[in-house]
Amino acid sequence: MEQQNNSSIERSDFGSLSDGKEVHIFTLTNKNQMQVKITNYGGIITSIVVPDKDGNPADVVLGYDKLDDYLKEHPYFGALIGRYGNRIDSGRFSLNGKEYILAQNNGPNHLHGGIKGFDKVVWNAEDSVGDEGVSLKLSYLSKDGEEGYPGNLDVTVLYTLNDNNEIIIEYQAKTDRPTHINLTNHSYFNLNPEKSKNALDHVLEIKADKYTVVNETLIPTGELRSVAGVMDFREPKPIGTNIDAVEGGYDHNYVLNKVGTNLDLMATVYEPESGRTIEVFTTQPGVQFYSGNFLNGSLKGKNDIVYVKHYGFCLETQHFPDSPNQPDFPSTVLNPGEIYNHTTIFRFGIR
Ligand code: GLA
Repeated sequence: MEQQNNSSIERSDFGSLSDGKEVHIFTLTNKNQMQVKITNYGGIITSIVVPDKDGNPADVVLGYDKLDDYLKEHPYFGALIGRYGNRIDSGRFSLNGKEYILAQNNGPNHLHGGIKGFDKVVWNAEDSVGDEGVSLKLSYLSKDGEEGYPGNLDVTVLYTLNDNNEIIIEYQAKTDRPTHINLTNHSYFNLNPEKSKNALDHVLEIKADKYTVVNETLIPTGELRSVAGVMDFREPKPIGTNIDAVEGGYDHNYVLNKVGTNLDLMATVYEPESGRTIEVFTTQPGVQFYSGNFLNGSLKGKNDIVYVKHYGFCLETQHFPDSPNQPDFPSTVLNPGEIYNHTTIFRFGIR
């Protein structure tokens, strides 16, 4: 009986890559029987099982059961994103007078770290059980020049599941040459996965007065504009309320109302039918709210669910897109001797 209430982390085989590299999947369970699965391929969160208000469990993230599906092209389901979350204009930046040319993998731009970003590499994995909860420590050395970026970048991501039903993601990195970095996680959520047609009825609140305006290739123009109107989530509102008035749907970086790098509650999601909630805490200045606009019914995920448009949404805590080319945005430069630190918490609950 007691055994059943204990938190645990278990490792199983998840298959192997064409070069023979073995991949594992880790199952983290807490005392409330909340269960999270993470693979060291791309650091992908493949599953988050939490109860609804009546105690019924469901898996509230989009993704797959099998490694093979993640090896095919997919829209970053659950993955760790690096070295740079979101876009860098024309895949270029200058740093200390030198120009760097990155992979252009999204029209003319660089997106989510390039052709083989951190979402497609095999991370070293170490599991542990501590007072804070059960943890999976992933580490990866991104070599100087990888995807065009300068510096050997030593990255660690610590995923912890605790008994407050929180998934804590702690990112750390060091470099041996000046470089740019902006790490995030690209989980897609749907808090009522079996019953809802899409995620448009989820009630969202984002503590942001402004967002970064983008051009036609989704690169910020530099303008920070008031959210007043259809972009406004300062008062909780269903994602679908104004979505038709937003060209292409939401895919915008919100400028969070925070000063400094405290770990603050910046966004909340509530799904009325299931009662499930997510509270998002972050140290980062921005969050990319992406309403799953490019999902189009062509991908079928776990439990045979077809991922139609807006079936899931992402809240990618981050620095602003294209910061390397925007001197007025908070800096994403990491110098030798400094430590990049970023913490984000997804706290799951019911109402
Ligand atoms: C991010 C981008 C979107 C899209 C998705 C993945 O959220 O901003 O434009 O690329 O990732 O499809």
